[in-house]
Amino acid sequence: MNIVAPQEQFESLAEEYEHMVTLPFRRQIEIPAVMESLGEMAGMHVLDFGCGAGHYARLLRKHGAARVVGYDAAGGMLDHARRREQQEQLGIEYCASLPEAFDGQFDLVLGVYVLPYATSRAKLADMTDAMARLLKPGGRLLTLPIHPRYALPENYYAPYGFSLSSEQPHADGAEVHLHLPSATALIDITAWYWSAPTLEQALRQSGFDNITWTDPLPAGALANPQAELQAYLEKPHTILINCRYAPN
Ligand SMILES: C[S@@+](CC[C@H](N)C(=O)[O-])C[C@H]1O[C@@H](n2cnc3c(N)ncnc32)[C@H](O)[C@@H]1O
Repeated sequence: MNIVAPQEQFESLAEEYEHMVTLPFRRQIEIPAVMESLGEMAGMHVLDFGCGAGHYARLLRKHGAARVVGYDAAGGMLDHARRREQQEQLGIEYCASLPEAFDGQFDLVLGVYVLPYATSRAKLADMTDAMARLLKPGGRLLTLPIHPRYALPENYYAPYGFSLSSEQPHADGAEVHLHLPSATALIDITAWYWSAPTLEQALRQSGFDNITWTDPLPAGALANPQAELQAYLEKPHTILINCRYAPN
């Protein structure tokens, strides 16, 4: 049973998440798939929801987004992201809460690996509601949950730098343990599994439609298939959900 708020797990993990973006499955598959899916960024107002150490926030700004806000509930992650902002001066705003002034201000909300930190259906609804509230009508959400059909053998993803395990595999609301080997220790992060129908229902109830699910398969991975990434591509641990905010 987890007694801490899920985001507290991330307070001291900024360095690990900076390292994680260098792993081949992120660098060669996830990140290009996300950027391809997003397309043209010029002039867009974007909020990176659960921005962590700020990797995507920086990338979106470098790809021409006019305004980028990184939001995260973990102060340790934000401290790291803000330090990098001080050095790089990209013009990214970082925040630990979502003021009302943000309502309806964004063309795009990106939420990479954040929905799995909803500990209950009610928290999942809170998160998708908060994402919706930020968007202009017709705005877009791209979010990456745990893939509803992630591979169950515990070591399946070991060649890619992590493992996933669960006592109740593929059960709605069940804990999923993400293990990340780091230089000093094995990091164990608890996430929560949400099935495709439960995620769809939460998104629709928050006012999203045109919901599409796409496995991460960037064009580059097809053009230059790499044998060592093949098993990941067959059973990716995440999936891209794109949807449109269409309030009544
Ligand atoms: C797995 S990390 C992913 C970070 C980043 N999106 C990336 O792709 O590297 C999840 C992040 O979501 C944040 N988070 C979890 N629940 C949140 C919530 N309800 N509101 C804001 N941030 C949250 C955590 O603090 C953590 O930094």
